[in-house]
This record gives sequence, C-alpha cells and structure tokens, in this order.
Amino acid sequence: VKGNYRHFMQKEIHEQVRSLTETMAGRIDFQHNSILIPTLNIDEVDFDQLKGIKIVACGTAWHAGQVGKYLIEEIAKIPVEVDIASEFRYRDPLVDKNHIILAISQSGETADTLAAMEEGRKKGARVWSIVNAIGSQAMRLTDGYISMQAGPEIGVASTKAFTAPLVDLYLLAVMMADKKGLLSAQERSQYIAEISKVPDLVGTCLDRENQVREIAAKYKDTEHMLYLGRGINMPIAYEGALKLKEISYIHAEAYPAGEMKHGPIALIDEDMPVMAILPHDQWYEKMISQVEQAKARGGKVIVVATDGDTLASSLADDVLWIPEAFWMVNPVVAVLPLQILAYHIAAMRGLDVDQPRNLAKSVTVE
Ligand code: F6R
Repeated sequence: VKGNYRHFMQKEIHEQVRSLTETMAGRIDFQHNSILIPTLNIDEVDFDQLKGIKIVACGTAWHAGQVGKYLIEEIAKIPVEVDIASEFRYRDPLVDKNHIILAISQSGETADTLAAMEEGRKKGARVWSIVNAIGSQAMRLTDGYISMQAGPEIGVASTKAFTAPLVDLYLLAVMMADKKGLLSAQERSQYIAEISKVPDLVGTCLDRENQVREIAAKYKDTEHMLYLGRGINMPIAYEGALKLKEISYIHAEAYPAGEMKHGPIALIDEDMPVMAILPHDQWYEKMISQVEQAKARGGKVIVVATDGDTLASSLADDVLWIPEAFWMVNPVVAVLPLQILAYHIAAMRGLDVDQPRNLAKSVTVE
C-alpha cells in the first residue's frame, strides 16, 4: 500500500526517519554508551590478527560500501577495500583467514554478491553481511550479520536500503574501534551522540521536499547531469547519479571532483548541469574551487550545501539545503535531496518510477 504517496519510491524515501531509527534501535545502549550487535558474533574476531576487510556489493550497495571504507578506516583504523562483487568473484582475490568479507545487500539474493561471499569463504575468510531481507541467503550463509531493519523495499531504485547500511557501517566502525581499545569513553559517547541525530536530520530534509521539487521542475528536461563529490561524499555523487539515471533515463555521470581536470571538464557547457556535493567538511574549499571552475565554463551548478552557506548560494544557480551534521554523518543527510530530486524529475517526466525499464528489484542471475 502506497498510502498518500504516488509511488513506493516516494513512500520509501519518507520512511527513512523510521527506518534509520529502527536500524539503531536496540543496538545503542545509551546507559552504558556502547553498541551491541549480537548477530555479528564480533567476539570471534581476533583483531590483532585481522589484516583487513573486503567489502563486496553491487550498485547502490557498493556506494554504501565506499562510505563504509571511510568510516571503518577513520574510526577503527582497519584497512578496507571495496569491490564490485562481479569483479571480486572472478579475480582470485588475495584473501585468507585473517580477512573479513563484508557483503552489503538489500535483497540478500544478488547472485554476484553471494558468489563473492562464497569465494571469500573458500579462502578461509570470515564472512559477514549487512542485509535487509530477513531470512535471505546473504543473511543465512554468514558467520555474522547486521540486519538493516529498513522493512520491505518495493521501488526498484533503492533509497531506505541505502541509508540504513550507512548507519550500520558507522555503528560497526565504532564497535570495532571499541573492541580494539581505540576509543575513550568520551569519544565513544560522542560518536553515539552524533549518529543518534540522524533521524531528525533526515526529517529536516524531508520537510524540504517542496523546495527540491521546484528545482526538479527546472532540470527535468536536461539530457545530462554531472555529479561531483570528494572524500566521504564522493560515493554520494555516484549514488545521486545512479538514482537519476535509473528512474529518469537522464544520462548522469559521477566523478571524484579532483578528476575533473583529467578529462571530464571538457564536457562542461551550458547544457551540462553540474551537481556538486558541498557540505561543510574538510573537502569544502576544494569543492568550492570546482564549482567556480564549472561556472567559469558556462555550466549551470546545483549544490548540496549546509544551511547558512552564503558562499555556496552566491556561486550556485540552485541550492539543495541540508542541515549541519558531523562530517562522518553527512553522507546520510546529503543523499536525501538527491533521492528526492531524482524521484520528482522522473515523476514529472511521467515515467514508471517504481518499475524502471530493463531493471529488476533483485538480480538473481549474473
Ligand atoms: C539501484 C539498486 C541496485 C542495487 C543492486 C544490489 O537503486 O537498487 O543498484 O543496489 O542491484 O542489490 P542488493 O542490495 O539487493 O544486493
């Protein structure tokens, strides 16, 4: 049932306050300021011997994994590689019993992801998953799992099953850092306090749907869009572009912003709008100079910017405003206006948002 919503995708976008609350519920023990995920069996891991984590996933889940690399390396200081499952499974990857394979999958039935898990297991690695569909293969065939608790996702374009694993990866990173003895009690409660704000921050973004819809109306007929991001928000550029292309059929590409001068900047003219993910973080200055370069070449620029950023709004043609957040939490917040924008552009183009052409919700063949 779609309730008051036109499409499941819109409903699922709006469910994110609840889904993100759920994915934290029962995991954060506020009394002891600790994180507990019993289904992960984390006590079986010998962190002194652990060489690294290999995240395997496809599509949107792969983008979530890229954010996870930042979080785990930054907070838990464990090396992480992120691989597309269909590549990993055929590469004879260098994995042994001192690695963890961490699969991320909404459906838990994606053939390539399951095969990548199997490949890891054959080589003796511990296999973990972050998975939404309860009882799915990727939940059962593991040494430990985190359930996203996002609830069923019907729209083919993944939304709430993208943000839930971002929160799960953050919790996992904090939990592993804690097991390694890296965090003081104060640091731990600080991390917990920041992630606990996420549902409210997401709620603020949802309240701004009408502003995003107005911007969607301006860009709905564009043929191309270039998404740029850096650092922990680089995967958000990829995710924003994927959302737009899969449901609106607009050609959208994403690049780490620093790559522009190595080729893609040649694409920029008045017919190539640029979407820059520009929250307040350590990459801000670099992103601003990218926006200036795009403007200098006649491009229209839309930015995802933090409330009160007058520099961003003076440079950009349009702004998707997000509330201020801790930098490691920004990806969860910054993706919201991009989901909403893609949704409204596709709906305005009269397309079948929930069932885009050529796509299936669960890719059980390679
Ligand atoms: C895009 C999308 C896909 C899936 C991918 C993996 O919106 O939904 O890219 O993320 O097919 O699916 P799961 O997570 O079920 O393994």
